Amino acid sequence: MCGIIGYVGSRSAQPILLDGLRILEYRGYDSAGIFIPGSGVCKAVGPIDELVKVCTDTSTGTSGIAHTRWATHGQPTEANAHPHHDMSETLWLVHNGIIENHQEIKEGLRARGVTFYSDTDTEVLVKLIGTFHQGNLRQAVQAALQVVRGAYGLAVMYERDPNTIVAARLGSPLVLGLGNDGNFVSSDPSALLAHTKDVIYLEDGDIAVLTNDSYEIISQRGAPAKRVSTTVDWSVEQVQKDGYPHFMLKETHEAPEVITNTARGRLLPEAGNVKLGGLEPILDRLSNLRRLHVIGCGSAYYAGLVGKYILEEYADLPVEIDLASEYRYKRTYPEKHSAILAISQSGETADTLASLQKAKQQNLLTLGVVNVVGSAIARETHAGVYNHAGPEIAVASTKAFLSQLTVLALIAVLIGRQRGLSRTDGQDIIRAIGDLPNLLRTTLGLEDQIKEIATRYHTYEHMMFIGRKFHTPIAYEGALKVKEVSYIHAEGYAGGELKHGPIALLDADFPVVALAPYDDVFPKMLANIEEVRARQAPTIVITTADAPEMGTLTSDTLVMPQTHPIVQPIVTTLVLQLLAYHIGVARGHNVDRPRNLAKSVTVE
Ligand code: F6R
Repeated sequence: MCGIIGYVGSRSAQPILLDGLRILEYRGYDSAGIFIPGSGVCKAVGPIDELVKVCTDTSTGTSGIAHTRWATHGQPTEANAHPHHDMSETLWLVHNGIIENHQEIKEGLRARGVTFYSDTDTEVLVKLIGTFHQGNLRQAVQAALQVVRGAYGLAVMYERDPNTIVAARLGSPLVLGLGNDGNFVSSDPSALLAHTKDVIYLEDGDIAVLTNDSYEIISQRGAPAKRVSTTVDWSVEQVQKDGYPHFMLKETHEAPEVITNTARGRLLPEAGNVKLGGLEPILDRLSNLRRLHVIGCGSAYYAGLVGKYILEEYADLPVEIDLASEYRYKRTYPEKHSAILAISQSGETADTLASLQKAKQQNLLTLGVVNVVGSAIARETHAGVYNHAGPEIAVASTKAFLSQLTVLALIAVLIGRQRGLSRTDGQDIIRAIGDLPNLLRTTLGLEDQIKEIATRYHTYEHMMFIGRKFHTPIAYEGALKVKEVSYIHAEGYAGGELKHGPIALLDADFPVVALAPYDDVFPKMLANIEEVRARQAPTIVITTADAPEMGTLTSDTLVMPQTHPIVQPIVTTLVLQLLAYHIGVARGHNVDRPRNLAKSVTVE
């Protein structure tokens, strides 16, 4: 939610900031703005392309801050776009997060004669900083942050001191980039890759002062803090489209490589086991777990639902699952020998983070399956497994979801082998995970067929996805993907639920996508398909090569490769991702940036 970038150095700042904003655009894209000391501010409503059109000043300034917005307070208008300024119009601020007590502060400032031009909480914050500013920007920021409640990743500049950026973080992500010809601050390291891979992830409460050749970090306690720099192992190519029309398509096509990376060095084929370095120190505790509680939001939650099925089936481990946005508020019963596992691509999702913090306060062991290394959720957990899916730029999650399912299968083997999963069964699963990249390559070969089906179905206004057992959450995920990128009303249901209500919706205008791989619930799915067809609902059946002949049951059939049930959902999901992509494109939408959505939900 909102992306910020700042640069102070010896190069021209404008292209650096605009290029950075393009990479951060996935975090929000309703308006954007840039401030360069000496040149002033330019802002535009809409995507970064609109900003580029208005930033025509060939500025030579070598420092500045920039922002791409996902509106929380106030409409996406130019007045509400960042950067925002104080009363003197010399202090400029970009902010990602929410100032919860902004109304109260605003009233206090109004009483002192301060006026406001926007509806944003960010303007309140910069005006507050302005009231404390007497020449030392860092002290003014520090004083203001003691007054505010909420979350922020922010960068501030004082027009008369262009060689300094003050940045601060609480709750929202912020990373410093250390370059040879200047220093950077950004919401996400991906925006810095073209300039530097040396980064420092700020901790909550940190305030950093950046100049062209130095940086200083002050911790929440007000004392200088040492923070280790790390090297980001992502490449510039990974954050570019690489010839694909959309990031979503590129990231979907990366599936084979992503699974290879997720599994690399982790499979022990001979032992029928896996090696997960991040969980090794707590292996004993995992073996003795009585219950695992899984949390996540959106697709990550659906990955967790698949995890519940497979951990219960293969690791003999009772699993409870909750939406993180519910877990954090509900009464929980922390038990001895239980743990909580948070699943998150970004590692930033506010509800997931808050749930983890709650669990930690209740002395639970906290675990994570996270893609972004060094992110807040990764740092909040006692132990965990990184996905190694690489940066995911398209707003709708694709490759990260596949890697989450892969990690969950690995965890199921790790815990399962301690709790009765036989070596032979472990070997079967390891073989299937090892073969998966090839199967995914074969699955990508179905794309022309999927595209052709998408062109025939994209005009419907409703769609239902059904599956059973491991494929019930995949039906939810398929429906979510279609909703997000095509705005078609889509529902996901367990096949067995059809007759309990949703079948009433079905008619010739309500197509059904039936997930029917050849597994132990295949006959039940066949029965569902017959029921659906009897209501004249157009049907797309996604099945596997080993499934018996389906005769005249179906209108459209996609035959994907058959694999072990524990990883079959990964293959099925790839088909659904391609289907959603092509439906969204056929409807003329920008599938990378669906309306009203942003990639990381760092506000609650
Ligand atoms: C759906 C999607 C979202 C995310 C959810 C959690 O395509 O991307 O539903 O899965 O916002 O995000 P993370 O995994 O970053 O916690």
